[in-house]
Amino acid sequence: MYRVRPSHEEPKLSEIALPPIAFMGLVSGTISVDSFLSAGLGVRTACAENGLLGAGARFLDVGCGCGRVARTLIQDPIGAYVGFDRHWPMISWARREIASADPRFQFDHFAVTSHYDHIDGVEGTVDVKEFRWPYEDNSFDSVLLASVFSHMPMDEIRVYMRQIHRVLAPGGKVFASYLLKHQVEAEMEGFNYLFDPEEIETMLREELFEARFVEETSQAWWVATPIK
Ligand SMILES: C[S@@+](CC[C@H](N)C(=O)[O-])C[C@H]1O[C@@H](n2cnc3c(N)ncnc32)[C@H](O)[C@@H]1O
Repeated sequence: MYRVRPSHEEPKLSEIALPPIAFMGLVSGTISVDSFLSAGLGVRTACAENGLLGAGARFLDVGCGCGRVARTLIQDPIGAYVGFDRHWPMISWARREIASADPRFQFDHFAVTSHYDHIDGVEGTVDVKEFRWPYEDNSFDSVLLASVFSHMPMDEIRVYMRQIHRVLAPGGKVFASYLLKHQVEAEMEGFNYLFDPEEIETMLREELFEARFVEETSQAWWVATPIK
């Protein structure tokens, strides 16, 4: 399933091209190179601090977009990176510009339905609630959802949490951002979904995860381990 990186190849972050400005806008919400780059690096730091980037880690980036985070991992010692998204043009770009630079990186496209179609107009053909991820049980050590669950309603989040429980190895970690109800002004269907930490905690307990809340900014994070 994974490609092994020859030890003599050491791609550098500065060698990875920037995506088209339209893709930066789709994942960042603003058209700014600086905010695209700093947001990616910020997520990478948070992943490192929460133990998702250990040597040899098998890393899954759900809703990876055009690789805003992937590009920042290119100098980390993870063993394999798999990112998937429903937006084919971004996946195609990431394959060409990131996966070609480092064989540890793989980008997959699945045309699932999503409320994100309000933003990018890309309609899915596979019902997200029926979508079984084509990855083997226990095949990842780390799962990231950066600004993804903040754009999904709770019933879809639960569907994804069941897949995460299945693909995470025992002791693995899932790290996800969410938007806090009391800190973000408006819930907009198809754009953002706001939750209280208690709702997230209940959901994680019911889906058999042990969770910890990481910070209390407008985009807060939680990290959870599956109970297996
Ligand atoms: C705000 S962007 C964040 C992208 C990336 N995680 C990052 O931090 O740059 C949200 C991404 O989630 C993707 N997305 C939305 N619904 C999804 C779903 N059900 N499954 C997979 N990806 C999804 C969108 O296509 C989009 O690329």
